[in-house]
Amino acid sequence: MTNQQRKSFGSDNHSGAHPLVLDAMVAANAGDVTSYGADPLTERVTRQLCDAFGAAGAFLVLGGTAANVLGLSVMLQPWEGAICAESAHVNDDECGAAERIVGSKLLAVPTADGKLTPDLIATRLTGRGKLRRTQPRAVVITQATEMGTCYSLGELRAIGEFCRAEDLLLYIDGARLANSAAFLGCTLAEVSEYADVLSFGATKNGAVGTEALIVRNADLLAAAPYHRMQLLQAASKIRFMAAQFDALLTDELWLSNARQANAMAARLADSVSDVPGLRLAYPVQANSVFAVLPREQAERLHEDWNFHVWAGLDDQEIVVRWMVSFDTSESDVDEFAAAIRATAGAVSQPAS
Ligand SMILES: Cc1ncc(COP(=O)(O)O)c(C=O)c1O
Repeated sequence: MTNQQRKSFGSDNHSGAHPLVLDAMVAANAGDVTSYGADPLTERVTRQLCDAFGAAGAFLVLGGTAANVLGLSVMLQPWEGAICAESAHVNDDECGAAERIVGSKLLAVPTADGKLTPDLIATRLTGRGKLRRTQPRAVVITQATEMGTCYSLGELRAIGEFCRAEDLLLYIDGARLANSAAFLGCTLAEVSEYADVLSFGATKNGAVGTEALIVRNADLLAAAPYHRMQLLQAASKIRFMAAQFDALLTDELWLSNARQANAMAARLADSVSDVPGLRLAYPVQANSVFAVLPREQAERLHEDWNFHVWAGLDDQEIVVRWMVSFDTSESDVDEFAAAIRATAGAVSQPAS
């Protein structure tokens, strides 16, 4: 079986790794070092991550689900819960990992676009102090969101200030934090200013597979290494994970990768914006394009292209997610956009 040659628009996880990440892993292979993080490279990368985020601690883990579970573990007691959007990855796409492993309930809120607001968070605070109700203690937001949009710095401030006023901890699922910082034109410290704990995703940004759990709230730091160990995320040969971050932090490769991905999403959205029968479901801000299009067109397009069918709207229309990556090129986008246009011409359009 060979890997698919045509670029996938299914997920930013479908890409391989950036060559500089692979080079850094090969370089890290030389010689013996102490395991479990007591090696010079892991110590340096951890310091760099702490500096970049103004954080008390940084802990490399193997994946985004693991980072979310670890993050919630350091914030919650068993009787406490985390408020999140219904569509949040932690709620919808992690097989209940948080509930099983952390043992805490997620308090999900329906949203129009995957974004929480102070008002939406407040709807889940009513059980506070009631013995038989889960006690809300944390709020989880995803930046960039699962819908490819980004909380603005103002929206983050509003949520952050609300959380502080309500004695709630704020967790950011930052599997695509790089894309949001690139979109907002801000630093990692700025985009995470109000978070107590967050994940900083590398896997979707060109790594082989690693993420960092960033602990900004120093009160939560002491327990984090023990949680990571118990949660099977303290890799013995962690230097190879540090090497991946080393490559991404060098000359801000994380930022150029994120900018490339965002630019390709914008290019795709621009290229298809006038295709008959197609409309964008959400603003295109990070690295995905959500489009509503005729079901028959989506089915035809799917015969040759890999992308995600997000939701069916009705018999005639369907929402699809086209996701691009750090290594998606202009010609990949142009070829896909031409196929979208061609399939639109080949199907009957729903009556408007
Ligand atoms: C927003 C978000 N959070 C977390 C994850 C989980 O990452 P992983 O698949 O590495 O566990 C993903 C993966 O797609 C994601 O999109």
